[in-house]
Amino acid sequence: MELAFKTSVYIIKPFLREGFLEALEKDIYKIRDSSPSIEVSNINGWHSETDLFLRKEESVRKLCTLLMHETTKKLISISNNFDPKLYDGEFGGWININPRGGANATHHHQPWDWSGVFYVKQPDIIDQADRSGMIEFINPCQQSSMLANKGFAEAGMSPFFRLRPDPGDIVLFPSYLLHSVYPNETDTDRITIAYNLGLKRK
Ligand SMILES: [Fe+2]
Repeated sequence: MELAFKTSVYIIKPFLREGFLEALEKDIYKIRDSSPSIEVSNINGWHSETDLFLRKEESVRKLCTLLMHETTKKLISISNNFDPKLYDGEFGGWININPRGGANATHHHQPWDWSGVFYVKQPDIIDQADRSGMIEFINPCQQSSMLANKGFAEAGMSPFFRLRPDPGDIVLFPSYLLHSVYPNETDTDRITIAYNLGLKRK
């Protein structure tokens, strides 16, 4: 087999010190309580300003360092031709809090190059069939999804790809990939950090 085309969603499980997520969650609620939501893809959820990488809270600064490191490491590992020294990398990010009913409409993150989501808090589910809070990616090649119903969904031709990552996980994907988030059907907040990386040739 020759791999002709590929769109992958990478799940990274970074090492986190004990108490990291708890400290981050505490600071996130402080930020939420002192600033109004902005309106983007969020439906019934709170969306911070997009200044995450400029914030001064210690937990947020540690997270930003982690995201920059883990993202760069992953990108180097997926392509022999990518040399980060040839680019100025610009990161931008924000916080999402989706309480019960909170969701995100379908969107992409262009003109950025790579996008990611860090999971701070992901409510437990009762039923595996439950889609509450799941992120759903849409197959960028809609023509290939015509083969999904003929037994090729498992061969990367499914029209959708759904994930429920664990707290502490990073999900990394190309910014062109359309995605959405199902409504949170629990009474526990779903908290995520979304971020983007733009690569400008030096
Ligand atoms: Fe997004």
